[in-house]
Amino acid sequence: MKTFVTLCASALWALCMPASAQNAWDETTPALDLVDYRPEGWLLEDELFFFLDAGEALFEAKFTAQDGAGRPNSTQAAIPHRPRKPLTQAFSRTSGPDASACSSCHNDPVSGGAGDYVTNVFTASGFANAVFDTTDPEFSNERGTNHLFGAGLVELLAREMTVELQSHRHQALITARETQQPVTAALTAKGISFGTLTAFPDATVDPSMIEGVDFDLIIKPFTHKGVIRSLRNFTLNAMNHHSGMQAEERFGPRWTGTSDFDEDGFTAEMSQGEISALVAWQATLPPPVRRDDLSPDWAAAAQGGEGLFTDFGCATCHVSALPLESLDFHDPGPLDGAGTLNARDVARTAIYDLTHMSWAADLERDAQGRVLVPLFGDLKRHRMTDTEVNRLGNERVVQGFVDTNVFITTELWGVGNTAPYGHRNDITTIDEVIRAHGGDARSARDAYVSAQPEQQSSIIAFLKSLIIKDIPREPSAL
Ligand code: HEC
Ligand code: HEC
Repeated sequence: MKTFVTLCASALWALCMPASAQNAWDETTPALDLVDYRPEGWLLEDELFFFLDAGEALFEAKFTAQDGAGRPNSTQAAIPHRPRKPLTQAFSRTSGPDASACSSCHNDPVSGGAGDYVTNVFTASGFANAVFDTTDPEFSNERGTNHLFGAGLVELLAREMTVELQSHRHQALITARETQQPVTAALTAKGISFGTLTAFPDATVDPSMIEGVDFDLIIKPFTHKGVIRSLRNFTLNAMNHHSGMQAEERFGPRWTGTSDFDEDGFTAEMSQGEISALVAWQATLPPPVRRDDLSPDWAAAAQGGEGLFTDFGCATCHVSALPLESLDFHDPGPLDGAGTLNARDVARTAIYDLTHMSWAADLERDAQGRVLVPLFGDLKRHRMTDTEVNRLGNERVVQGFVDTNVFITTELWGVGNTAPYGHRNDITTIDEVIRAHGGDARSARDAYVSAQPEQQSSIIAFLKSLIIKDIPREPSAL
């Protein structure tokens, strides 16, 4: 409601007038009346901030049956799919719908943040098991709620890395044709190695040496698994999965032949504009920061810990910062395919210039003027278990054809105030989750385990200093 009042007091008040007259006590969601268009081109600061307020209101709205929440005849699957028989309950803790609002889970320490164990989600990508009433790992992978701070910068990095990886493939194919010899190309993006591929003169490639990314070379930075490529794609999944609010661009007539796929009597439950506002709000969330109020002994320990973090090999995966060329966030994005509005579907994308955000000025830049995104990650997937250390090998359901013990490096920015840890959010301390690293992380983990207690403690001191801070969203002074 606060947002609604602020908006209506602003110069853009006409845009926020409800489409239909509402009583203040009606059990529908006012946030659904805020935007009725998808923006195009560069957003001026006023329009951007209006749009972000609408996105925030939608992220925090508790959708009701009078808005079209619930999906009696649709499963949570990303591809529109019907259950074997209609769902009889509005909510189901296992296969969903499992929440009224996005912020019901993403709220720690503030809206857009992570979630405690109680907000875990049971994800099953296989259609056969789409509706299940058990938490048995045979049926679903149980995942903890990760935070969304800095998510726009993460998606932008993933887009640029994808272009870089695909250009290596393209170049190798050209050289192979010109020389009539096989060409093996090193696949690096922003200094991260994703293995190699070999291109042949007949335009085929051998992808078997690609590492940490799918053979399509598209970096998919979202979910613990690293299988979702964009905030827009995830938002469409989440709206349907958690609340049964179906977006027209995926569940509408274009793909399903009907405007009421879930058969709850409501058509076109979420418009392109509403999904865009949700994406804009998430994409502009400030990145986590380093605490600037550490006591002298904590600051000294953290400094030592940061050095050991590199010495022990943690930073080979949790890379302290990756360089980003452009802060222009295009929505819809370039990498999505059918079922998620993408740049090829529209005449003009909206462009959110993240330098409009006050936090952008605080980000360091390198000598070439690129923003250094301090994520402590590499956007790459790694094998996390071996025969001796296999605590992270609890999953049974294959997702996106990625082995069940392979996960994308968790970005550690924000780790200081988003306990608990691990993809199942079932590990209460940082110490324990470090000890749970096996597989590709085994040597770094062993260096930590065999270190002196004060060295281990200093690594914790360092990681506890990386936090989400509730920075007011303001226009930049630029
Ligand atoms: C019931 C709890 C719950 C609700 C409600 C929820 N989420 Fe999530 N969210 C999660 C969990 C759990 C994950 C991790 C999923 C995984 O790894 O498979 C996640 C992951 C995400 C991610 C990927 C973040 C990353 O860095 O990998 C995005 C984006 C996201 N959620 C957006 C949303 C939006 C938008 C909504 C509302 C439409 C929403 N979520 C509602 C629990 C929830
Ligand atoms: C081979 C790559 C790799 C190396 C090396 C590595 N990590 Fe990780 N780290 C990961 C991955 C992947 C995850 C996600 C694991 C999961 O949730 O299943 C992770 C998760 C974490 C988490 C949990 C974050 C959260 O919010 O749940 C912490 C803390 C962490 N790593 C710290 C470290 C430290 C400290 C070191 C060095 C001793 C280290 N890592 C070395 C890949 C790596």
